[in-house]
Amino acid sequence: MKGIILAGGKGTRLYPVTLAVSKQLLPVSDKPLIYYPLSALMLAGIREILVISTPWDLPQIRRLLRDGSHLGLRIDYAEQPEPNGLAEAFVIGAEHVGDDPVALVLGDNIFHGYAFQEILQRHTEDIEGCVLFGYPVRDPERYGIAEIGADGRLLSIEEKPRTPRSNRAVVGMYLYDNSVLDIAKNLRPSARGELEITDVNRVYLERGQARVIDLGRGFAWLDAGTPESLLEAGQYVQTLEHRQSVRIACLEEIALRMGFIDADSCARLGQELAGSAYGQYVLSIAEQLR
Ligand code: G1P
Repeated sequence: MKGIILAGGKGTRLYPVTLAVSKQLLPVSDKPLIYYPLSALMLAGIREILVISTPWDLPQIRRLLRDGSHLGLRIDYAEQPEPNGLAEAFVIGAEHVGDDPVALVLGDNIFHGYAFQEILQRHTEDIEGCVLFGYPVRDPERYGIAEIGADGRLLSIEEKPRTPRSNRAVVGMYLYDNSVLDIAKNLRPSARGELEITDVNRVYLERGQARVIDLGRGFAWLDAGTPESLLEAGQYVQTLEHRQSVRIACLEEIALRMGFIDADSCARLGQELAGSAYGQYVLSIAEQLR
């Protein structure tokens, strides 16, 4: 399975912070926001990843993540010059996806919870149709909202509904079989002129091929699109990391645990960052798992 991280947009709700810096590079506690969605793809075992962003932000993101080889990944980059919608990722990324299934993750989404890795790995194998993830929220009018049948089948899906039929938001992690490329190619822009991911999901719904996995109340799904949610996300991460003395979304640790790199390479990466507590943590993990 291939991966795509969509890290486009202007981050207008974070102005003036994002006038000069990409939202996905802002710190969530001790690491850049984009580490969190990237870590989710890595935990799913996905190693070929396309990062899509604006021509303005892409060079900085590339400076951070490079070609991915230090993490045992292959990271490529592509531009989305205009915010034409999430589903445009499959038009821009068609060549990257090739004949494979694909996971799309939004660059400002943070996932954290028990058994997330198992859930991801289970659903990325032999995918037919699409797999979405649902999460209960207080403010359903802000999200794509799913109605889910008893067997986990998607019954209806609406983008930012005024009168939501449920409080189940569809989170920014989507798993698709290869037909998503055709669906996206033939999609018409919505009233607001965008290729909507919700319209892609509706095609799978009409084919009877859309499933929703409920992430449930024990799970943390955070986005970081506003000053409040960015701070809340940072506090959440900081609280857990401080209490448990482990780090969430430490890419070097995940690469080592997943077998993408060996302990020596991990130690070298830690050495480059040794001036920070994050770097010291990477060094200690390399030592522990040697
Ligand atoms: C997008 C999607 C929406 C989804 C959300 C998750 O909304 O359109 O369906 O629930 O991401 O973060 P946006 O955040 O772009 O408004």
